[in-house]
Amino acid sequence: MVISEEKINEIRRSVNIVDVISDYIPIEQKGKNYFAVCPFHDDHNPSMSISPDKQIYTCFVCGAHGNVFTFIMDYENISFIEAVKVVANKTGIPLDISSFKPKLKDDKLENLYEIYDFANKFYQNNLFTKDGSEALSYLKNRGFDDSIIKEFEIGLSTSNKVTKLLKSKSYSDNQLVNSGISSSKGDISYDTFIDRIMFPLWDLEGKTVGFSGRIYNTTDTSKYVNSRESDIFKKGKMIYNYHKAKDEIRKKKFLILVEGFMDVIALYKVGIKNVVATMGTALTNDQANILKKLSTNIILCFDGDKAGEHATIAGSKELQNVGLNPSIIRLEEGLDPDEYIKKYGVEKFNYHIDNVMSLLDFKIDYYKSNTNFNNSDEVAKYIRSVVEELNNIDNKIIVELTISKLSDDTGISVNTIKGMINKKIIQIEKKEVKVILDKYDKAERSLLYYMLRHKEVIKMYDNNKCYFPTDEFRFLACEIVHYYNKHKEMNLADFISYISDKDELLDAIKKTNEVNIPETYSTETITEYIELLNEHSIKTQIKKLTDEFKSTVDINRKTEIAKEISELKVSE
Ligand code: CTP
Ligand code: MN
Repeated sequence: MVISEEKINEIRRSVNIVDVISDYIPIEQKGKNYFAVCPFHDDHNPSMSISPDKQIYTCFVCGAHGNVFTFIMDYENISFIEAVKVVANKTGIPLDISSFKPKLKDDKLENLYEIYDFANKFYQNNLFTKDGSEALSYLKNRGFDDSIIKEFEIGLSTSNKVTKLLKSKSYSDNQLVNSGISSSKGDISYDTFIDRIMFPLWDLEGKTVGFSGRIYNTTDTSKYVNSRESDIFKKGKMIYNYHKAKDEIRKKKFLILVEGFMDVIALYKVGIKNVVATMGTALTNDQANILKKLSTNIILCFDGDKAGEHATIAGSKELQNVGLNPSIIRLEEGLDPDEYIKKYGVEKFNYHIDNVMSLLDFKIDYYKSNTNFNNSDEVAKYIRSVVEELNNIDNKIIVELTISKLSDDTGISVNTIKGMINKKIIQIEKKEVKVILDKYDKAERSLLYYMLRHKEVIKMYDNNKCYFPTDEFRFLACEIVHYYNKHKEMNLADFISYISDKDELLDAIKKTNEVNIPETYSTETITEYIELLNEHSIKTQIKKLTDEFKSTVDINRKTEIAKEISELKVSE
């Protein structure tokens, strides 16, 4: 599909980014610009500014920025062309269909979608015919009421029917076999799914792209049969229930990942709707990246059996590879979420949600339960595994606690274990020293944090003219003063759009957010920051002079320097 650049620009200009974004998330006017809680990271305060002048958005915490199309692409997880279509639909600009007549490949995709759409309707209808009574009572037994059946578009495949029907709609055998709806034996094609309860599998937009069919009246060895992969169905990229769960996930600010669609539906039935699933397959890197866009706060709740335990280890590794640190729910007695809720009820499940395990604790339990404590090689391996995990943990208290537990478990002394991670501990200690030394760094960031929000603080800074030691912070302060002098006002959203093309300043703003300080300030704290920065510049000057004092041989100069230093020391 090709849309001309002029057309794309026309479509972009025909909408106001503010209106479009406000269709997706709540926004608030602040000055000329708007603010919103950023949907692209785990945001708690509004950090995304939206500029109607520039028609762009910029998040000063995660750095997400772009125009109306990139917003829709990232929010809905769709392609550029699809985002253009969404906007065109909103404005009613007719997209000249002939100007992007589908190419052959798109024709093929279109056919696949149509085949699945037709089959989906057909299967759903079957369930409510006389052929469906047994399947329906199976579903009712498992607690599926009509509204759940409708919601999840559950259907029934009966005898060999859908292939014939689709052929009568002039799809070729070849197309049907490629789609996975049909299979072939020699020249004959027949239905892939016969006598199974049908669960449609959707792509991220909610289009049916495959099926999973479950047995219900036989003891067939394969409990589930899934559509084979096609141009529109890739198992490794699919997340079951994505389109239905995404708003709820953004609202609740976390998601639960389970192993199969039965578990998704089981949780949905009891009102837990921020749930998605893989198809019982190992989590892939593609899926991890898709999940990351939905939420950075992920709970893995796989089956409570051994297989689920392995899947948790493997899945969390994929999530860690994309920078996420999931929490874990382990269900007792090897149950899966569906069975667990049936047996113990939703309150007990909610208790698990409120009391998730950290990944570290889960892994330690995992290593421990796989260790034979009568075998010293295995014990050594257990200790090494835990030490390796600890090498990635920055929290000193957690490290200490874990070492002491590990020592209790194995009888190996705390010191010996510490020796194994000595290097890391030294690093941690260094880091903590650095934090103390860096009170100046904190003063810079905090002062800027308040300058960005209160003009009174800008005035205090301007009257005292202290010096920011770090270049990027000094430039930012300079821009803030410049902006304030021009507008006589400080408005963060406006300021961000004013500097939105200067990456290094946005970066500096991002860093000011990393300090953990209250929203409100007192004049005393501001004075303290200013004094700290002054102290820093005096210290720097003294250091420079001291160095010069040491290197110079000229006695007169030495005396001069000594005098300068003692004067500075008085004001220190
Ligand atoms: N699965 C599959 N083929 C199988 C078994 C499982 O494709 N033979 C996939 C399905 O997507 C299923 C998931 O793996 O949802 C988890 O499998 P399992 O735990 O065995 O099924 P349940 O979800 O518990 O389904 P049920 O409660 O109906 O037994
Ligand atoms: Mn189950």
